[in-house]
Amino acid sequence: MTLLVTGGAGFIGSNFVLDWLADPSAEPVVTLDALTYAGNRANLASLGGDARHTFVHGDIGDRALVDRLLAEHRPRAIVHFAAESHVDRSIHGPGAFIKTNVEGTFTLLEAARAYWGALQGEAKAAFRFHHVSTDEVYGSLKADDPPFAETNPYEPNSPYSASKAASDHLVRAWHHTYGLPVLTTNCSNNYGPLHFPEKLIPLVIVNALAGKPLPIYGDGRQIRDWLYVKDHCSGIRAVLAGGRLGETYNIGGWNEMANIDIVKTVCGLLDELKPDPAGKYERLITYVTDRPGHDRRYAIDARKIERELGWRPAETFATGIRKTVAWYLANAEWVSQVQSGAYRDWIDTQYMSR
Ligand code: NAD
Ligand code: TYD
Repeated sequence: MTLLVTGGAGFIGSNFVLDWLADPSAEPVVTLDALTYAGNRANLASLGGDARHTFVHGDIGDRALVDRLLAEHRPRAIVHFAAESHVDRSIHGPGAFIKTNVEGTFTLLEAARAYWGALQGEAKAAFRFHHVSTDEVYGSLKADDPPFAETNPYEPNSPYSASKAASDHLVRAWHHTYGLPVLTTNCSNNYGPLHFPEKLIPLVIVNALAGKPLPIYGDGRQIRDWLYVKDHCSGIRAVLAGGRLGETYNIGGWNEMANIDIVKTVCGLLDELKPDPAGKYERLITYVTDRPGHDRRYAIDARKIERELGWRPAETFATGIRKTVAWYLANAEWVSQVQSGAYRDWIDTQYMSR
């Protein structure tokens, strides 16, 4: 049987597909990706001509295409990563977030419902719709609040998190009303190889190497719970294999850190691995105007997935961030390839007038 992976040319989706197919006995994968600015065929290039992988360029909102793919490949699961994923872009232009994250997820759910409804016996019992979501749906924590549990109320604050919250609710309702066998994971901030350099960690690495300012929003004391991307992928595999239908599982790194400390850690690693004759990279840190509605703190209570499925992250932040910085240093060609005209336009829009 096959896996249908949406958004498999993006950051987490491509790491998931690569890790999945690294197992020689793994089921084949069909990747459906619209190749927006964030999607990149090169992310999957290391698969070469692996016959177990099929790439389809298309939109999750194209019902006829999704129906055809389901009929042709008969997947035993859909793993749904495709989304608009950047908070700052959602502030500049929320429309695309509603289109893909809400309407696209709706279309995919409807196609999955029709496909699953017509399955029989074992194939029907085995089918899964795995929705990949974020901790941002829970809103912002105060300094002494306990971390997000699966039972926390939804309080999304940005157009991005509101669109993801809406998609989570649709997934939940399709299970409750139609019995669609769904699983949802809500994960904290990821970092690692193939991360598009609009997000904090890869942006800081590529800017530092180019001698450009490292922009810190506001006071830099906002906290995120950082998880190495390959640990997120192993968490998804664990939930896909053993998660209880209709349940949600939080995935996190047990690693709360303030943005300024993240940036200083990256600078320290670069000082060690690629010293700049002009001086320490920290000299490039520049405080800029804060993001509107900026959530102060996210943190994940990942005890449910550990208790039920035995999952824990394999990397600490120290080991994961070292691998990440080393990956960017070894993959300068990938970095220059993704820094297209569209990327430069975004950087100008976002940072020129801050
Ligand atoms: P990304 O922006 O790097 O990749 C998104 C991928 O989806 C791209 O390849 C893009 O081309 C594709 N895509 C966008 N719209 C599409 C459409 N309409 N049809 C088909 N493909 C489309 O995002 P990411 O960081 O890899 O995130 C993947 C998923 O994980 C998202 O659902 C996101 O909400 C969730 N998530 C991300 C993080 C994080 O830290 N990055 C944390 C938790 C959850
Ligand atoms: P980001 O990587 O955009 O993820 P998210 O907003 O989904 O958490 O940002 C991580 C944190 O870093 C967030 O608090 C915003 C902050 N940030 C900066 O301070 N400067 C930047 O240039 C960027 C992109 C983010």
